Amino acid sequence: SNNFLECFLSKTNLSISNSTSDVIFARNSESYASVLQSSAQNLRFVTPSTPKPTLIIRPLSESHIQAAVVCARENSINIRIRSGGHDYEGLSFVSTVPFIIVDLSNLRSITVEIEKETAWVESGATLGELYHAIAEKSKVYGFPAGSCSTVGVGGFIGGGGLGTIFRKYGLAADNVIDAKIVDANGRIFDRKSMGEDLFWAIRGGGGASFGIIFAWKIKLVPVPSIVTVFKVRKTSEQGATELLQKWQLVADKLSPNLYIQVVIEGVHSGSANSNKTIAASFWALFLGGSEELLTTLDESFPELGVERKDCTEMSWIQSVLNFAGFSTKQSYDVLLNRTNSDKSPFKAKSDYVKEPISEKGLEGLWKILLEEQRGYMIWNPYGGRMSEISENEIPFPHRSGNLYEIQYMVTWKTEGETDEHVDWIRRLYEYMTPFVSKNPRLAYLNYRDLDLGINRNENESYGDASVWGLKYFNSNFKRLAQIKAQVDPSNFFWNEQSIPLFGLEG
Ligand code: FDA
Repeated sequence: SNNFLECFLSKTNLSISNSTSDVIFARNSESYASVLQSSAQNLRFVTPSTPKPTLIIRPLSESHIQAAVVCARENSINIRIRSGGHDYEGLSFVSTVPFIIVDLSNLRSITVEIEKETAWVESGATLGELYHAIAEKSKVYGFPAGSCSTVGVGGFIGGGGLGTIFRKYGLAADNVIDAKIVDANGRIFDRKSMGEDLFWAIRGGGGASFGIIFAWKIKLVPVPSIVTVFKVRKTSEQGATELLQKWQLVADKLSPNLYIQVVIEGVHSGSANSNKTIAASFWALFLGGSEELLTTLDESFPELGVERKDCTEMSWIQSVLNFAGFSTKQSYDVLLNRTNSDKSPFKAKSDYVKEPISEKGLEGLWKILLEEQRGYMIWNPYGGRMSEISENEIPFPHRSGNLYEIQYMVTWKTEGETDEHVDWIRRLYEYMTPFVSKNPRLAYLNYRDLDLGINRNENESYGDASVWGLKYFNSNFKRLAQIKAQVDPSNFFWNEQSIPLFGLEG
């Protein structure tokens, strides 16, 4: 790390005595631990035994990123790139080989141009900051991003990025029109100079395999001045299973203006094993007023029994607050808070469903769900715009033919509990095998899951990496590996699930 530091200081004209205090954090610096943990979301990777970086660099400009890349490469040090720190497996701040973190949290400026319906957003900004910046300029423009306001723009867009209006407008990555990247040689490219292959790869292929993307130009999308939100919760006794059977038939075929996600969990009330039931919360956003929503539901999903009293009309930005877990009465300034106060250790997995799961299948699923007090599932309906975009448009392949995606999640409190909860989620995933996509069994990159397979080292072959790569990218995996071989032939940007080089096996 001394050689790295010497190189970095000489290239940036920083000196140890002055302006480095906001940029370089060595293990012996006072704020090292707080900076390391600042945005680390999954506390499973914030433990005394978790491998730590030799240095954390927080660039103040793109030239600092260039220097970090060049100096890390000269000294054969692995780089972990961190924007918002929400990687499910901690790949942005943990490595099994000696490493430094390039943390982009100082680079978070956002320039919104409403007349042009575009914005430039730096990778270190959070989704909350992006929503806020757009709302400051207009209440009838938004961006198809995710619910959690502290997620970083860099990782989110690089992995695809979906949220409440993706049935209407597609993924965040579908709405990127330019980007700026520092490559493995420390050069800066924009869309024009990087070429269409690399520009294709970084929109959903996981940016970290290709370089450090420090800014994205995005297309803003129109939203109505009034949207409607409802949340209806039903237990098994109230017909949750029957409603979920119907939901599986209609959710992907509803108007693209209507998004009904379901959160399903076991409810454990009373003593040990008594009073256990399944509860399904149907949580919806409609791009329009409640009158129109009720008419739409009456035609397509009357069984849900949504009434006017269940519906709340609000502005788009209030719906962002609602789905981020804030009160809609609060000022939307709360979206500027970059720290998620609700952190815990967790493990997640994902699946794609192409045929409705039978009643019997669901009953078996409920049994496993009820075994775990802190486990739940989110069912996310596809269809709409998602089915219109081709599987190869960007690396994210999950388009037409998918009814919905499942995210399995379990959280816990202390390190000692890890194994029992991870075992449970793996058992649940195993049970689901007959009901979900096959050959390959598909998964969503942004719900990263190292159980799918890992690169054991930087020489992992394309063939071996296909075990996990095809699951995330399906037929796009080969093109990603070909592009990787062109733009980073020395595999400098390596991590446990980075794209391998096509042709490495000779
Ligand atoms: P982080 O900084 O950890 O980066 C994630 C990955 O991207 C790492 O591999 C990292 O190296 C790489 N990377 C980050 N910045 C980069 C850059 N500038 N250039 C190159 N590579 C870069 N997803 C979703 O689609 N919809 C949702 O609603 C949610 N909601 C949600 C809630 C919560 C609480 C969590 C923890 C996660 C989500 N996600 C999500 C998943 C989220 O999209 C995913 O974890 C993103 O990768 C997080 O991006 P960050 O920048 O925060 O992560």
